[in-house]
Amino acid sequence: MRGDVSRVLIDRDRIAERVREIGGEIARDYAGRDVAFVGILKGAVVFFSDLIRSVDLKMSIDFMAISSYGSATKSAGVVRITKDLDYDIVGKDVVVVEDIVDTGLTLSFLKENLLSRGAGTLRICALLDKAERRKTDIVPDYVGFSIPDEFVVGYGLDYAGHYRNLPDICCLHPEIYK
Ligand code: IMP
Ligand code: MG
Repeated sequence: MRGDVSRVLIDRDRIAERVREIGGEIARDYAGRDVAFVGILKGAVVFFSDLIRSVDLKMSIDFMAISSYGSATKSAGVVRITKDLDYDIVGKDVVVVEDIVDTGLTLSFLKENLLSRGAGTLRICALLDKAERRKTDIVPDYVGFSIPDEFVVGYGLDYAGHYRNLPDICCLHPEIYK
């Protein structure tokens, strides 16, 4: 599997350090509050599990899964909820945790959806941000790393369902996409 990787873009040590920094920032921003962390399956699971352990706050966790129709490397912007929240978010301080903001279509759907269901406040925490591909006005409140327009895998991110278990954020050899 590692032979499919062309290079490591962000290694596990840099990721761990940045996750701790963001966790500290969130804990300061929400001091004294009880925050509802919502992880977006499946891409955010690895980031989510590290992040919540670096946030020293009272919190609950929940998950949503969405599917967007499109090819393996591009989302089409048509979004459907395939697993909904277990808990009520009415009046809650919600932090949505996502792997990457690309076009922003997924998160703009989610943001509108969660606000319309009565979230008290809502912020977005994304591990990666590909700002140059944005098609919406979504701006994540917490960002791990801004990256160029390159397809990446690992640390939860997949290509066609694989590579989520790579510990570093990596680029794949171009022939893999054929
Ligand atoms: P958006 O709706 O275009 O912002 O797409 C966000 C989703 O597309 C992410 O949650 C990922 O599942 C997927 N995605 C976008 N770029 C990448 C990438 O470089 N690697 C893996 N998945 C990606
Ligand atoms: Mg995803």
